[in-house]
Amino acid sequence: MGTKRRFKTTCLTIDDFGKGLCRIDGKTVFVTGLLPGEDGEVETYYVNGKLKEAKLIKKLTKSKDRIEPMCKYYGRCGSCNLQHLSYNKQLEYKTEKVKNLLHKFAGLDFDVKPTIGSNNPWNFRNKVQVPISTKKNKLVAGYYKENTHDLISIEHCPIESKLADELVQKVIKILNDFKLTAYNTDTGTGIIRHILVKVSEKYNQALIALVSAKDNIYGINNIVKAIKDCDKRIVSIALNINTAHTNVILGPKTRVLYGTGKIKDNLCGLDFLISSRSFYQTNLKMTETLYNKAIELADIKPTDIVLDAYCGTGSIGLVASKYAKEVIGVELEKSSIKDAEENKKLNKINNISFVLDDCTKYILENEDKRFDIIILDPPRAGTTKEFIAAVQKIKPRKIVYVSCDPNTLARDLKLFTDYEVSEVQPVDMFPHSYHVETVCDLTLKN
Ligand SMILES: C[S@@+](CC[C@H](N)C(=O)[O-])C[C@H]1O[C@@H](n2cnc3c(N)ncnc32)[C@H](O)[C@@H]1O
Repeated sequence: MGTKRRFKTTCLTIDDFGKGLCRIDGKTVFVTGLLPGEDGEVETYYVNGKLKEAKLIKKLTKSKDRIEPMCKYYGRCGSCNLQHLSYNKQLEYKTEKVKNLLHKFAGLDFDVKPTIGSNNPWNFRNKVQVPISTKKNKLVAGYYKENTHDLISIEHCPIESKLADELVQKVIKILNDFKLTAYNTDTGTGIIRHILVKVSEKYNQALIALVSAKDNIYGINNIVKAIKDCDKRIVSIALNINTAHTNVILGPKTRVLYGTGKIKDNLCGLDFLISSRSFYQTNLKMTETLYNKAIELADIKPTDIVLDAYCGTGSIGLVASKYAKEVIGVELEKSSIKDAEENKKLNKINNISFVLDDCTKYILENEDKRFDIIILDPPRAGTTKEFIAAVQKIKPRKIVYVSCDPNTLARDLKLFTDYEVSEVQPVDMFPHSYHVETVCDLTLKN
């Protein structure tokens, strides 16, 4: 049994995860929902002398930056964390967050540019993957409460593309008509785990993938026909089979049941084919802003050889190719390389090649190769110290580091000792969440 106590406290700032940071009894406490300057009544819950939880019981004052959240599920659904803060203040928060983390972990005070925000920070998500559960004997789609397996049934999500939002509801209705069951994560019974929807607003196309715990679904042909007939924008339907008892969404096997299994989108003037598995940025407009900034910072000359490290489906490299002599993209995921090759053909680009490899292994084996510019866009974990050491031997004129986690970015920047960080530009790819993308320009010293 723990001890509960109530305190009046003032929020000092917002922490890296969007929570209000307060000091209670000389200790730092994180309170969801409080904004800087706001007073609140907070209940703390201690177990064996350790703080387990600090819950906001009542807001006592209101910040001028507080706004009414757009989403009626906000506060219950764990996907957004900052909808109660005005959008301009969200951008300021992200700039400060990058600045503070770079200072804390790289020990350097970079001049961080103000975060570039979105003109319309709503209905931007072009990829939606919703878990399925059963409520009152019906299948429902929704999102989990933060850090739980409690699914909140959600009918509309204001950050999802309107098309994706609409299609989730149409598909769930069909799955109910066919009396399908939801997979139960606790018992391992039931069939449907997730509905995955990817959309292209530019080409008005959608891909639906049902993630199933079973390879064979009774009546699947009729289900596919019903889904295909429910909306003419659905051009591909796939079944992904995931039998693992984990919270990883997609399983290793995908069967295309209708169409090519892909949709086409257009990014920075190039066409891209996107399958259910391939990595593709989820906020198209802001991706264009991000890529344009990365390419501007790279300052590519027509004689340059460019390495696009962690290239995914080759999108940055393909966009960069028109400025360069040659581009090489390196990526670990086989399906992404396959998509990258297809995207190269689709856009009739001849000066780019793709290599299926681990980036660190590749760079260590190619330390004697010439690269004038290296653009890297690693996953959240960042890159490796071996990769950085090899890059410093190659000495490209410029390095452009695109990062989705300022913590690992700071750790990595510190190791690029032969380079000067000349620009740090955060870009808001994920409005209303605490996440921030950052693009950094590193120039070879002397
Ligand atoms: C943040 S994504 C960037 C993709 C791409 N640049 C884009 O903008 O769409 C990171 C990519 O790195 C790939 N990746 C992860 N670890 C890797 C490694 N060790 N070597 C090569 N690629 C890796 C992932 O599969 C993923 O496609």
